[in-house]
Amino acid sequence: MKITVVGTGYVGLVSGACLAEVGNDVLCLDLNPEKIRILKDGGIPIHEPGLDQVVSRNVAAGRLHFTTSIEEAVRFGTVQFIAVGTPPDEDGSADLQYVLAAARNIGRLMTDYKVVIDKSTVPVGTADKVRGAIAEELVKRDVVVPYSVVSNPEFLKEGAAVEDFMRPDRIVVGADDEQAINLMRALYAPFQRSHEKLVLMDVRSAELTKYAANAMLATRISFMNELAVLAEKLGADIEHVRQGIGSDPRIGRHFLYAGCGYGGSCFPKDVKALIQTAASAGQGLKVLQAVEDANEAQKLVLVDKITRRFGSDLSGKHFALWGLAFKPNTDDMREAPSRVLISELCKRGATVTAYDPVAMDEARRIFAEEPRLSYAVRPMQALDGADALVIVTEWLEFRSPDFSAIRKTLKSPAVFDGRNMYDPALLLANGLEYEAIGLGI
Ligand code: NAD
Ligand code: UGA
Repeated sequence: MKITVVGTGYVGLVSGACLAEVGNDVLCLDLNPEKIRILKDGGIPIHEPGLDQVVSRNVAAGRLHFTTSIEEAVRFGTVQFIAVGTPPDEDGSADLQYVLAAARNIGRLMTDYKVVIDKSTVPVGTADKVRGAIAEELVKRDVVVPYSVVSNPEFLKEGAAVEDFMRPDRIVVGADDEQAINLMRALYAPFQRSHEKLVLMDVRSAELTKYAANAMLATRISFMNELAVLAEKLGADIEHVRQGIGSDPRIGRHFLYAGCGYGGSCFPKDVKALIQTAASAGQGLKVLQAVEDANEAQKLVLVDKITRRFGSDLSGKHFALWGLAFKPNTDDMREAPSRVLISELCKRGATVTAYDPVAMDEARRIFAEEPRLSYAVRPMQALDGADALVIVTEWLEFRSPDFSAIRKTLKSPAVFDGRNMYDPALLLANGLEYEAIGLGI
C-alpha cells in the first residue's frame, strides 16, 4: 500500500517506520525542515529504543521516505495518516489547528480517492471537522473527489513505541463506510496474525475510546498516589498494598505504581481535554478533575519532603538529581515531574546538579535561563558537594548504586526517591535516611 504520514513526531515516525517494516511504501511529511534533514541524513530526531534500526532498515530497502513537500505527500498515498500534535489550548481543550491544516492541505491538492485517518488524539467530533475542512477545499476548487475519514487512535507508549506498534493489544478503528473498513482491515492484517485485534466501531466512539483509555490509566495512578500519602500517615506500605490489590485480576498489576506524579505529553493534556469536552457538553467530570488535582499536588510531594527535612529556605543547599525525563527510555521532558521539582528547589534558593542518560540536552534547552541548574556526566558525579540525592526517573542504571559511596559523598545522609526504587532496609544498613513514596517508615 502507498501510505503518507503527515507529522513525523513520536507517533508519525514510529507508525511510518512500522508500516514500512511490513512491506508498505511510506512517505513521512513534516513541516519542520530540521527534522526531515536529520532523517534524510540517516539520523533520528528522538530517543526511542529500536526505532533507529527499523528506520534505517526500511530507508535502505527503499520503502521509507521523508519530505517537506505537501504536494508530494498528498499525491503519494491513498492512505493519508494525520499524526500531528494536538497540544492543549489555553483552557485545556485540544488545539486542532495542526490537524485541520493537514486536512485542508489534503483537500486542496487531492486528485483521487483518499482514506484520511485521524491518528492524532482528537476530541469527539474532530472527524466531522476534518471531513468538513476537506469538503470546503474541494468546493473551492469546484471538483468532486471521493474520500473517507477514519478514526484510528494510537495507544503506543514512549520508550516501548516500536514494540507497542508492532504487537498492539488492540487496534481501534472508527469508520462508517465499507470501502474504508476493508482498507483498514488490509492495512492492519500484518499486525494481528495471532488473533483478531481490530475493534471496529463508529467514529465518535473511537475518538472517545482514546481519551477514556488515558483517563482510566491516569485515574489509577492518582488513586495510588493519594493512597500512598495516606499510607505514610497510617504507617502502612503502599508497595505491599499494590501487590495485595494487583493480584485481583479485576484490578490487574499494571499502572498501580505510586510515584512523584504522572507526566509526559499525553496523560496531563488528555485528562484536561476530556474535562473540557465534557464541560462543553454541559457535564462536569468530578472524578477526572480530582485525578488532575491530585497529580498537580503529587508533583510537589518530594519538595514537601525536602523542605520538611531542610527547611523552606533552601539557600546554600545543593541537591543531586537523578532523572529528568518523564519516564525511563525517553528524552521527553514534556510535563515531567522533574521540571516542577527543579523550579521549586531553585525558587527556594537551592542549586541542583542533574544527571539523566538521554534527556540532558532537552533540559539544557528548557532550563537555558536557570543558572542554578548544572549537569553531571555520570550519576555519582552529580553527588559531589550535594546535601541530598533526589530521584525522579527510574532509569535502569539507577537500580543498583553503591550505597556506601553515596553515604560517603553526600553531606547529609538523605535520599528522596520519587519512584520507590530501593529496599529501605538496604539504605538504612548503609546509614542513609530514605524517603520514598508511601512507605510508612
Ligand atoms: P510530536 O509533537 O512529537 O509530532 C508532531 C509533528 O507534526 C511535529 O514534528 C510537527 O512539526 C508536525 N506537524 C505539525 N503540523 C503539521 C502539518 N500540517 N503537516 C506536517 N507536519 C506537521 O507529537 P506526537 O507525540 O507524535 O503526538 C502526535 C499525536 O499523537 C498527538 O495528538 C498525541 O496526543 C498523540 N499520541 C501521542 C503518543 C506519544 O506517545 N507521544 C501516543 C499516542 C498518541
Ligand atoms: C501513555 C499511555 O500509556 C499510552 O497507552 C498512550 O498511547 C500514550 O500515553 C499517549 O496517548 O500518548 P506514555 O505517556 O508514553 O503513554 O507513558 P506511560 O508509560 O503511560 O507513563 C505516563 C506517566 O505515568 C509517566 O510519568 C510514568 O512515570 C507515570 N506512571 C506510569 C506512574 O506514575 N505509575 C504507573 O504505575 C505508571
